[in-house]
Order: sequence, then structure tokens, then C-alpha cells
Amino acid sequence: MMRACCKGVLAALLLVVTFPGSAAADPPGAAVATAHPLATEAALETLDNGGNAFDAAVTATATLAVVEPYGSGLGGGGFWLLHRQADGHQVMVDGREEAPGAATRTMYQNDDGELRERDSLDGPRAAGIPGTPAALVHITREYGNRSLAENLAPAIRHAREGIPVTEHYQRMAYFRRDALRESPAAAAVFLDDGDVPEVGDTLVQTDLALTLERLADDGLAGFYDGAVAERLVAGTREAGGIWTREDLQDYAVVEREPVRGDYRGVRVTSAAPPSAGGIGLVTMLNTLAGYDVHDATEVQRIHLQVEAMRRAYRDRRLYLGDPDFVDIPRERLLSREHARNLAQSLDPERATPSEALEDAQGGGRNTTHFSIIDADGNRVGATLSINYPFGSGFMPPGSGVVLNNEMDDFATRPGEPNAYGLVGGEANAIEPGKRPLSSMTPTFLETDDRVAVIGSPGGSRIITQVLLATMSFVDGLEPEFWVSRPRYHHQYLPDRIQHEPGAISVDTRRALVEMGHTVRPMLRRYGDMQVVMWHRGESRMAAESDPRGGGKAVVADD
Ligand code: DON
Repeated sequence: MMRACCKGVLAALLLVVTFPGSAAADPPGAAVATAHPLATEAALETLDNGGNAFDAAVTATATLAVVEPYGSGLGGGGFWLLHRQADGHQVMVDGREEAPGAATRTMYQNDDGELRERDSLDGPRAAGIPGTPAALVHITREYGNRSLAENLAPAIRHAREGIPVTEHYQRMAYFRRDALRESPAAAAVFLDDGDVPEVGDTLVQTDLALTLERLADDGLAGFYDGAVAERLVAGTREAGGIWTREDLQDYAVVEREPVRGDYRGVRVTSAAPPSAGGIGLVTMLNTLAGYDVHDATEVQRIHLQVEAMRRAYRDRRLYLGDPDFVDIPRERLLSREHARNLAQSLDPERATPSEALEDAQGGGRNTTHFSIIDADGNRVGATLSINYPFGSGFMPPGSGVVLNNEMDDFATRPGEPNAYGLVGGEANAIEPGKRPLSSMTPTFLETDDRVAVIGSPGGSRIITQVLLATMSFVDGLEPEFWVSRPRYHHQYLPDRIQHEPGAISVDTRRALVEMGHTVRPMLRRYGDMQVVMWHRGESRMAAESDPRGGGKAVVADD
């Protein structure tokens, strides 16, 4: 397979951009925001010990794998958006999971072509080949100042010393209790005699510590070859999975050129395919650029944003998938002209029913995002996932690694909605070695005065969270508002505005319904946005964690 990675081969593909103003003085200090206090503290420890933002990102990634075992981990993948201040180099490290070589288009369907729903969600058949361990090695080697062993040390310590069970942990474990019970190795670590452990209990992850140590000592081979790989393959196959040693040996991260856009003077740098995030975000912004959104009434603003969302999520279904497998008309989708075409059917006074757009069809606090700026101005925004809480719930015995269920992000049966209600298209059909389409949207927002790193979990609602935060950035509001603001979302299908409790008032709802929208309040709030921002003009840093989650955001003096 042509999946060569790293220096040399891909260096030619990397876009080096130096923005005006980016050579301005260094930030007054570093800022870190992650979804867990222990991960934020670990990243700060790495910065204190001479690491740069990239080292700190490796530490945060590995520590989150230990302290938020339901949210991300060595058994999963993610996207790391990097900015190196010295030369303006920006890149997205694609550590997304990959379909195993024996995967087939219809592997989750029965003989009648019906979906066997749990098959792409629970157990080893739901798991793609993980990318996070390869990304830890790659980012340290190519961008860091420190050794992998140094960067992984806090995670190993937490795995050995144990992590406290919180109420949030309990909620996640209740949700996945049945799947965890099916996997004796996972149940032994994450459950207490088959049940959810008590708040305050300590969970020790000795096997995970050993696996992290292998990775620290042997690099890629420590996970993708040798004893750990053997355990992963034997464990998955004994439980009905299809992984092979070759699948693991073949895995490599891919460096991809980020997606770029410009909205009202804000430079937007975001996730490239196989994430739908950057193209979705820029398409929505390009569409909105044709309207006076920021001075509009609330009803008008929501209407215009929702109509932009509807059209961008339709594009997602039609065009987006792993760019190594499908031809994505990237330039066209990102062009202003495309946005103008999309806007031709946009009535400023009326909702456009999704089914009226030529062709109909269409991803909580599992998954995690962190944002880091170091005192030299290097930045990392990373969104990481194992998909469901505790992924597939399956842990190959002796590995300590919970495997993802990211295979469900493929169109497991084109035309049927996945766990996030997204209806996938041909471009996202399963093929061996292909990466499932994602919504993860780590993003940089930049003007000459301000630089922000943002992102959030939330399945299909990630991209619209980042859109709303971008609108708030343009409005000059502070990150405290972006992370806490009420959220609403439209994803083309189902054809309705979904909104957090209290996000849309009775009067606004009435006006939107009169315009033809279907408006549905959700039972719960969603997302766990993590933001850091450098006010270059005022030489001030800001960091915020979403109040919906239990994260920690810190501004550290230089
Ligand atoms: O890559 C994706 O789009 C999904 N696997 C992300 C899942 C997610 O954000 C779940 N969070 N609630």
C-alpha cells in the first residue's frame, strides 16, 4: 500500500505559510486547555521541562488516553493540527484509524442486506487499525524537543498509580456496561465485578502502562510489531475480529495540508479530509459571507446559519471520504463560487426542505479535544477519538488498550444513518485500508491581533460548534462566551434544527417554525470545547474549558 509517511516523501506536500503578523513578538506565556485536569497538568509539566507545544501535545494525548479511557486512547485515532512558529509551517497529522485489510463493503450486513447494527459498534469487528500510537511517535520525532519516553512519562505514571472514578466516568461506564462485560480484559480494568465502580475508587491500568513503556522504548515497533502487536492481533481474532499483523505493520500517519479559508478577515485553518470538518466549516463560512449575518436579528442569524449548515452537510454526504480513495473536488468545494451556487436556493425568509435539494442523504463527551500554545507561539489543536464511550468496549487481553468502534463512521450501508444520524454516501463506503470520514475539526482562527486554537467532541455536531465559535470570534467576543454559548445544529438529514435546552427562546422558535423550520429541543447539552487564545495586540493569553465538561484551562507565565 502506498502510505509512506514522514519526512522527505511528504515534506514536498507540506504547505509552508507565513502569515503577516505571525513574526510578531512571542506570547507572554503558554496556554493549555484539555478536557481533564490531569492531562492539562501533565502538558504543563512537559512545557516546564523544556518541551515545546508539540511535546506537550504528545503528553496530553497519552495522558488523556489514561485518565479519560472512555474518550480517546491508544486504541483510537485523531487529527493533530500543528503550527510551528519559527517558519510558519502548518500541517495536519492524520492519525485516523484505518479499515483492516479483510474489511468489506458489506461486512456489517446480513444476507438480506440488512445492517447488523451492534456489529459496527461492539466488539473487535467494530475496530479500525489505531493511529494514535503512530501519531505520538511521529509528532515527537518530527516536531518535539524531547524524547518519546520523557513525553510519555506522566501517562505511564497515571496508568500505574491509578485514576479516580468520577461521576462522569460512571455515566460513561453505565452507557457501555454491556459491551465492557463482553470483554473480560476490559471488564477487569473498568468494571468492578461486572458493575460500574464507585466514585472515589481507583482504577489501575498496569497493562496499559506496559504498552506505553513498549512504545516509549521501541517507538512504532513497540505497538505495531512485536509482543504488543501479537497480543492485539491474537486477542481480536480470538474474539471474532479480522485484524492481521500486516494491518498493524502497514499503518502510518499521513501529513496533510490543512483546509484554509477566509471569513471577514479571519484566516481559518482547519482539518483536512478524511475529516469533513474543515471543508464543512469553510463551506458554511463562505455561504454566510454573502449575508449580513452579524448585524441580523437573532431569528435571521439562526435561519441563515442553519441554511448554510444544511447545504454543507449535504456536500459532505455527496463528496467526502478518505482522499486517498476518493477524488474530492476540494478546490471547488472551498471556492466562493461554490458557496454562491449553494446560496442560489437559499431563501432568506423560508427554510429549504432538505428533500428539495436535488439529492437527499448525509457523527458528548466521549472523544476529546485539547488546545495548546507555547511561549514561542507554536500551537497544537487536536481532536482524538475512539468514537463511542469506551469505543467498541473490547480490550485484547494483556494489552490494556480499549479498541475504537470507528468503523461505524463509515457508511456501513450507504443510505442508512449511523450512530450520529449521519447518512453516509458512496465516497465513505468501506474499503480495506480506507479511513472513515470524521467530523473532528481542530481549527486555528487568526487575525493580526488574535490567534485562537479551538475544537470539541460531539460527533456530527462538532463542525457546527466550531462554526458558532468562529462567529463569536468574528463578533469580538471572548473565549469564555464561545465555550459556554448555547448551541444549535442542522445536518441536512434529519431535516430539523436541533438545539440545546434554552438555546432558542419560545418567540424565536415560533418565528423559525413560521419560516418553515422544524425545531427540536434536545434533552442534553453537547460538546466539550477547549480554547486557547493569544491576544497578540494586547500581549495577553486566554484559555477556557467548556463548562459542560470537567476540563481545565490554564494560562502559564513564561
Ligand atoms: O470522528 C468522528 O466524527 C466521531 N468518531 C467523533 C465521535 C464524537 O465526537 C463523540 N462525541 N460525542
